[in-house]
This record gives sequence, C-alpha cells and structure tokens, in this order.
Amino acid sequence: MRVIILQSKLEASNFAANIIGKCISDKEKAVLGLATGGSTILTYEALIKKYKQKQISFKSVTTFNLDEYVGLSPNHPQSYRHYMNNQFFDHIDINYKNVFIPECFDDDYLATCEKYESTIKRRGGIDIQLLGIGTNGHIGFNEPTSSLNSRTRVKTLTQSTIENNSRFFKENETQPSLAITMGIGTIMEAKQILLLGIGQHKSKAIAEVIEGPVTSFFPGTVLQQHKNAIVVVDKHAASDLKLYDYYIHTEEMNQKYMC
Ligand code: GLP
Repeated sequence: MRVIILQSKLEASNFAANIIGKCISDKEKAVLGLATGGSTILTYEALIKKYKQKQISFKSVTTFNLDEYVGLSPNHPQSYRHYMNNQFFDHIDINYKNVFIPECFDDDYLATCEKYESTIKRRGGIDIQLLGIGTNGHIGFNEPTSSLNSRTRVKTLTQSTIENNSRFFKENETQPSLAITMGIGTIMEAKQILLLGIGQHKSKAIAEVIEGPVTSFFPGTVLQQHKNAIVVVDKHAASDLKLYDYYIHTEEMNQKYMC
C-alpha cells in the first residue's frame, strides 16, 4: 500500500486527478470506478479542468459507480446519479451510454446486481477504482461485517452511515436505509485502487485502514491486501498515523529513485 500525505485537500485531490488523468491518456478505453460523497468533489473538479484545457477526453471512457440508494429516482437531488451528473458527467464529453450506476427500477435486485457484475467484466474490468472511506470503515456501502469476498448486492445501511449522510437530506425528507453497492470482492478486482481521505474527521478511519488489522469489521482495511492500492490523504486525515514520518520519508525515496 502506497501512502501519500499532502498538505491540503486541494493537493490531495489534484494528485488523485493526475493519476486518473494519466490512466485515461495511457489507455485507449479506460474503465473508471467512481465514488460519491464529499471527499471526491475536488478530484472531479480537477478532472473537469483537465478536460476543459484539452489535456484529456472522456469520449472512450467507461465509468462504473460504486453504489446507489434504493428507492430514489435518478433525478432526486440526493441520488448518486444526480450527484454524478451534477458534479462531473454534465461537464465533460463522456458518452452517457458508457456510464453505469447500480440502479434498480423494476424491483429485480438480484438481476440488476448480476448484470452490473457482468457488465464490468464485459468492459474489461475496472482500471482505477476511486474510493472514499466512511468513518465506520465502509467502502462503497459495504458496511462493517460485509464479507470480504462480497459481490454487488443490496446492503442495509448502518445507523451511523444514515446519520453521517443525513446532512445531504432536507429535514423530514425520507432517507433511504438500503443501497446497492459493489461488493468488496468486486472492488478488490480493480487493477488499481485510489482511496482519498480528506479532513480531520477521517483521521481515525485512515489510521485503521493503513495500520489496523485486516478485518471485515472495518472493511477499508482489506485494501492492505491489494497489489496496487494508493491512499492519498491531506495532513489532517493523516494526523493519527503512527508511522507518519515513515510514509513521508518513503515517498521522498520514491520520488528520488523511482521517477
Ligand atoms: C458514502 C458513500 C461512499 C463514500 C463514503 C465517504 O456513504 N457511500 O461511497 O466514499 O461514504 O463519504 P464522504 O466522502 O462524504 O465522507
């Protein structure tokens, strides 16, 4: 696991956007796994900037989002479809036919989830999976105790996740308690994983992901077993790392000898 500690959320987001941008330039038909939430917004802004400056094009890019609430219409302001259109897709040249979000409109959840998995495979698998981290360790909506081999499925959200995300919903607005999410096994098949940790409120979760024991009780810890996982954090999210200085030193060595 590579740990990159940067001073600000802007630097961390630009770093993430550069990795994603390089993947898009290097690969003819890049397949991206995308995440929603607050942590990824600046990364999307940086990617939009690269597109507007004609450094990259999304014409041949395919995207798969990690998760979606059950029971929200695509144009509901809190649906992840709406978030993605608003924050990202509406500002770039992506073909909407190449955009996949695990939505189910006919109540056949099993078929929806199986189709999502097979579509990922048919498109050649995910090249880079962007992730945020929940304060309870969830990745996507894989809540604590999710099987480390799980596939795309419906998950019941924990009370802490519902509370954390309640800030996005209006008072008295019904907030879903179920979601469809890629499984941990699905996420782990991505060729590269890029987890973004932004802000002091993520410092405990980031320390656990990098330095804690691998356990389904804190799903993000499974990334320690991925061959090509990068955790990019700002200094606030890094503040609980026991080996903080070591990670800084290691990256200095990487810059010196590997670039
Ligand atoms: C949400 C989403 C995740 C996201 C995570 C962190 O509940 N399901 O995909 O990465 O929690 O969100 P944020 O970046 O807003 O802290």
